[in-house]
Amino acid sequence: MPTVTFLPSGRTIEVAKGARLLQAALDQGVEIAHSCGGNLACTTCHVIVKKGGWWLSGPEPDEEDLLDAVSDVQSNSRLACQLKVTRNITVEIPS
Ligand code: FES
Repeated sequence: MPTVTFLPSGRTIEVAKGARLLQAALDQGVEIAHSCGGNLACTTCHVIVKKGGWWLSGPEPDEEDLLDAVSDVQSNSRLACQLKVTRNITVEIPS
């Protein structure tokens, strides 16, 4: 199973391949804000993929549109509710 390491905590969890990051994190007690409940209607689940992002499929157009509204968006920003974990990655949860 792929792993996800969260920064700044350094905690690592195992995730079923293809699972969406937000739900996998919440299921294992890693808190990621999610005001819209994972329905692609907010930007509170913004994360920054620090390692392993090149293995992931890119964001769909709807996710890209929402990411444009993130004030500190970076080229490796994703919305955790849309990101499917298929490889080992490290993500930062912005404060
Ligand atoms: S939880 Fe709202 S867009 Fe991801």
